[in-house]
Amino acid sequence: MQKHSLFPPSELVNEPLEQASTIPSAWYTDQRYHDVDLRFVYHHNWQYIGPAEHVGKTGDFITGIASGDPVILTRDEAGRLKAYYNVCKHRGGPLETEFCGHIRMLQCKYHGWTYKLDGSLRGVPRFERTDLFDKADFGLTPLRADIWQGMVFVNPGGSAAPLETIFHGIEETISPLQPGKLAYSNRMSYDVKCNWKVYVDNYLEGYHLPLVHPELCDALSYADYETETFDHYSLQHAPFQEDASDRAYYYFIFPNTMFNILPGRLQINAIVPVSTEMTRVIFDYYYSDISSPAAKKLIEDDQEFADRVQWEDIEICEHVQHGLRSVAYDKGRFSVDTEAGVHHFQQLLKREYQRFVHMSRQI
Ligand code: FES
Ligand SMILES: [Fe+2]
Repeated sequence: MQKHSLFPPSELVNEPLEQASTIPSAWYTDQRYHDVDLRFVYHHNWQYIGPAEHVGKTGDFITGIASGDPVILTRDEAGRLKAYYNVCKHRGGPLETEFCGHIRMLQCKYHGWTYKLDGSLRGVPRFERTDLFDKADFGLTPLRADIWQGMVFVNPGGSAAPLETIFHGIEETISPLQPGKLAYSNRMSYDVKCNWKVYVDNYLEGYHLPLVHPELCDALSYADYETETFDHYSLQHAPFQEDASDRAYYYFIFPNTMFNILPGRLQINAIVPVSTEMTRVIFDYYYSDISSPAAKKLIEDDQEFADRVQWEDIEICEHVQHGLRSVAYDKGRFSVDTEAGVHHFQQLLKREYQRFVHMSRQI
């Protein structure tokens, strides 16, 4: 079967919100679409890995997952940011299994091959009798990495627009928060039994607030909830009930990064597909103050509340995945008032699938 037969042209047409249908259920349940999502959509876009302070100096490292593959970022002897697949060239072992730390060189955890921080293979125990083996052929595979406002991202495909272009306009909205000066606090991870797009769709609308998150719905001024869409991202925002001069901002940067901004706090979500129907959702918390007793109390309350809301989302997303898999559903429609963000995401996804079809035809 030719790859692009997965995408009949009629499925990739972008209709205006008022006339559009939601994307077909097979896109959430069929492994073949999942493979395109990882190997093309994720591969060609930027993906959040973690706080840049974990790779501040030579030998610092941070690990993560990009497009489904393990990656490791470090700084070489010259202080340059480097990213590699966290995959040894001997038989695929991991170079690091911790989230972050400090090393002098990279050493595979399986049989101990070592690599310099520049990715070149250094030491190969007990290989004297192997014929025609040239260490120069077995250096680590690099990938593109960059830093924006204290956060590290990777772009495995290497051809995405620079981070400044992708994030253009976000800086101004969040500048009162001074994201580059926030301190990293901690990470929470949740495994959700749904396709990554179910989780993203759910994030992109406030329509479900009254029924799924009654407590959050009371805290925000639901009637003033707004959605704005841009080239590479969308923004939802709403004032707080108690103090309308403060707002909650929810940015979604295609395909998988979310910035949830409250006064003094930035929570980043990275949506990491594990399999077609399993998604890991990472929550990284940054605050303007992480050490005073008052700040610690605030952090505890903030994360307790976020955890409750997250479990509400997990429960509904898992039900939705089950529904999408059923014989009873293929496509739905959008609420023009409240689902512009979901429609925008699905348009960007179709744009990527169109590029995929175009490129497949050229091969
Ligand atoms: S897999 Fe890395 S040393 Fe064997
Ligand atoms: Fe939600």
